[in-house]
Amino acid sequence: MASSKENLILGIESSCDETAAAVVADGRRILSSIVASQVEIHRKYGGVVPELASREHLRGIVPVVREALEQAGVKLPDLDAIAVTRGPGLIGSLLVGMTYGKVLAMALDKPLIGVNHLEGHVHAVLLESRAAGRDVALPAVCLIVSGGHTILYHVKSEGVNGAARFSYRRLGGTRDDAAGEAYDKVARMLALGYPGGPIMDPLAAHGNAKAVKFAEPKMKGNPFDFSFSGIKTAVLYQLKRSPALQSEIPARQQSLTKGERSVDALKALCSAATLDLIASFQRSVVDNLVNRTLEAAAQENVRTVLVSGGVAANGELRRTFEEAGKRRGLEVHFPSRALSTDNAAMIAAAGYPRFLLREFEDSMLNAEANLPLA
Ligand code: KG4
Ligand code: ZN
Repeated sequence: MASSKENLILGIESSCDETAAAVVADGRRILSSIVASQVEIHRKYGGVVPELASREHLRGIVPVVREALEQAGVKLPDLDAIAVTRGPGLIGSLLVGMTYGKVLAMALDKPLIGVNHLEGHVHAVLLESRAAGRDVALPAVCLIVSGGHTILYHVKSEGVNGAARFSYRRLGGTRDDAAGEAYDKVARMLALGYPGGPIMDPLAAHGNAKAVKFAEPKMKGNPFDFSFSGIKTAVLYQLKRSPALQSEIPARQQSLTKGERSVDALKALCSAATLDLIASFQRSVVDNLVNRTLEAAAQENVRTVLVSGGVAANGELRRTFEEAGKRRGLEVHFPSRALSTDNAAMIAAAGYPRFLLREFEDSMLNAEANLPLA
């Protein structure tokens, strides 16, 4: 239950394939966080199908918001504001959550806050640290790494009338695939199911990460840009060159078709060479992400690194960041697994500083598929 002095924000998120709503008190206490995942719907296509995503958001938005309110023990009139994701994301998906939030705010005569989804990912980390009573020291470098994004920001905040105003500067980003997208595409090539990350992460632990050498992506220009399409193609070449690796694929495909997609079931159908390939792929992706992020932190002279987004759930990524962070005397913060992937608690939390600064939207608020954060 919320105490009467706390400000309650309802967050709504529908930018990709999760319909989510949450109630967060004072930007730090999660009273509820409901996420309806569409993964089962998109699985057979090996990726998110935009038209299906919008349709599922339409189906889910009302019950998901209702459940978030019920679980929080909050009634609509108790809310102090409504924060909605306005971009970036799939336009048809964004429109569902944003329009619902807008109409709700108008009908209830509550303030409406438009939140950038990427700012939400930054606040997923800040929210949990705040809740744990250990505020993150800013400025920081933040890596947002998911199926849709791989991007580095410099994050700072300044006090304005007792509230914090956050500002962001883009340091670099992927020039082709997002890291999660590379996981998903490689998983598809190897018949490991969708999404690829959650299955390849535990499988990689059984392989030799030094078995296959992948060349560092050669890029001119910004040293903080990423590229993952080369490594994805390199995996494809490994596969094409090896009849033995290829010969395992039909059995895994069959297993997936039967719905047997557990780590153990798929591991039993992977040879040591396949596990080595998976481990080497993961090593290369993780090294790329960690090295560039730490170089950015050094250049920006910050002591704090934030890592957020679906791929932040990756065990190897966490371990590598933590060890490297310790060596360099950096604090590295991750969200819990639940807040790593898309959710609405992070949208409500990102809306809270804007609520205090009274940065509200009117009925002209629109969704933007390519909305930049900076
Ligand atoms: O943030 P998210 O739920 O959705 C967006 O893309 O915005 O991230 C999903 C992505 C997928 O590409 C999935 O393969 C990846 O995150 N992912 C992982 C892991 N868990 C999820 N990648 C690597 N290791 C993981 N443990
Ligand atoms: Zn996201």
